[in-house]
Amino acid sequence: MASRKLLLLPGDGIGPEAMAEVRKIIAYFNADLGLDFELDEGLVGGSAYDAHGKAISEEDMGKALAADAVLFGAVGGPKWDSVAYDVRPEAGLLRLRKDMALFANLRPAICYPALAASSSLKPEVVEGLDILIVRELTGGVYFGEPKEIIDLGNSQKRGIDTQIYDTFEIERIAGVAFELARARGNKVTSMEKRNVMKSGVLWNEVVTATHKARYSDVQLDHMLADAGGMQLVRWPKQFDVIVTDNLFGDMLSDVAAMLTGSLGMLPSASLGAPDAKTGARKALYEPVHGSAPDISGKGIANPIAMIASLAMCLRYSFNLIAEADRLEAAISGVLDDGLRTADIWSQGSTKIGTTEMGDAILGKFKALSA
Ligand code: IPM
Ligand code: MG
Repeated sequence: MASRKLLLLPGDGIGPEAMAEVRKIIAYFNADLGLDFELDEGLVGGSAYDAHGKAISEEDMGKALAADAVLFGAVGGPKWDSVAYDVRPEAGLLRLRKDMALFANLRPAICYPALAASSSLKPEVVEGLDILIVRELTGGVYFGEPKEIIDLGNSQKRGIDTQIYDTFEIERIAGVAFELARARGNKVTSMEKRNVMKSGVLWNEVVTATHKARYSDVQLDHMLADAGGMQLVRWPKQFDVIVTDNLFGDMLSDVAAMLTGSLGMLPSASLGAPDAKTGARKALYEPVHGSAPDISGKGIANPIAMIASLAMCLRYSFNLIAEADRLEAAISGVLDDGLRTADIWSQGSTKIGTTEMGDAILGKFKALSA
């Protein structure tokens, strides 16, 4: 079979440390499982700015567009706090999302049984939690124009961002959420602010119409996004799939992530539309955690979210379902054995660093593959 082209963009902060663990696992896939991944690597974020003066170079952007999938680490850090807005580290990630047309962002929040005690919520509230946030990723206030600061001339300035959603954007993200719900708990909760935003009124209408036309077998509920945030911390297990816009999805997915004990645990997938001819989707996989500059370079970062992002990549881009299941089982297994990085450590478990965690997961994966 043709080789599988993967572009690695480790980025900044703990991104490269976490990516090093993924590289080990892929090396094993190639050497022992004959999976034939062809790796390339590029720069994004602050590291790209230092090398090229931009958050991603044209060459690396080209590589991303040509790859079967992109694995992304994290971007940003205090070192680049004062660089110009259009070349700030985050601009690299936003350009990848926009130019690769990755409109569907899947953010699972799963509470591993071994970690229920590390959540800031009571164990019974989060134990066994398994929800999926489907966030619209290429529209809304992130990209709407005008987006500017204008000088009003009377020593006043005006900052403007524009929230825009067209019918087709809402329809296609709702479709992704309904399809995914069918393979899970068959329930979708749509969140917007129709009580104050016109884009929220349209969102609600289009999700309702899409449901009626094509997905009436799935249960659909609507919730105002602020109430949704409250319900997420009150009783998160009421949810199965949540579908929401770019900005609400950004915030609600951070809330959902923290329910599970640590931001260091959660992967995400950003997917484009299937190609009309080949059915292949452009895709980028990244941990939900950021670059965590405070702990970078210390060898203590948690690589689980990055490794779980590789598992999502196996599942969604390469249809390697058995391998994805096994990699996820390896993560669970290592946690069951009591191994923890500092962010998820608690009394009675064994504290280990980034490399040891990567090695332990690979060891478990090998054992499960034997
Ligand atoms: C995320 C991040 C990004 C976002 C930043 C880094 C631009 O917070 O992926 O959730 O706001 O989308
Ligand atoms: Mg965010």
